[in-house]
Amino acid sequence: MTCKARTAVFISGNGSNLQALIDATRNDTSFPAEIVLVLSNKADAYGLTRAREAGITTIAVSHKDYPNRTAFDDAMHQIMKEYEIELICLAGFMRLLTPDFTQKWAGRMINIHPSLLPDYKGLDTHRRVLEDGCHETGCTVHYVIADMDAGEIIMQERVPIIAGDTVEALQQRVHAAEHRIYPYALKEVAEKLLG
Ligand code: GRF
Repeated sequence: MTCKARTAVFISGNGSNLQALIDATRNDTSFPAEIVLVLSNKADAYGLTRAREAGITTIAVSHKDYPNRTAFDDAMHQIMKEYEIELICLAGFMRLLTPDFTQKWAGRMINIHPSLLPDYKGLDTHRRVLEDGCHETGCTVHYVIADMDAGEIIMQERVPIIAGDTVEALQQRVHAAEHRIYPYALKEVAEKLLG
């Protein structure tokens, strides 16, 4: 039997990256990670439906039910322990995590961001890239540290900007690139983790 890293994916919305990870982990029997849990801070996130359809356990845990970030992150950490999670993939999880939580998961938590980091950290990347007249953008998978979008880079894919590009068109092409690299990055990180 192959040993696989028990992986949780954190989402807040559509979950197209989650879908790419589900497909990759399922289509390759020797993939070194297995998604055993999908956690969302929004109960109506479409990604939860994707997970359920794939037969993966889902948990919706609202940050609004906790007095502060620390209490919310502690609750998530307890859930991770309960499910014996070894690796966390953030995939459109729209909550900032506390330094304590990121420290606990240092080297075992990764994120996908829609720009070529370290450029264009934060939200609304495609609009800013277009406004600045850039010739290319892309996406980045990186380790998560306390500072937002700042951890060590694991993988990137460049996406050229085409004349007349709109935010929507660019977002679509970057999304396609995200779906390509996130599974490869997860594979690399899980292999390293399993030794
Ligand atoms: C992606 O663009 C990802 O880079 C960013 O949030 C978006 C999530 O999209 N962190 P989806 O929910 O995976 O479709």
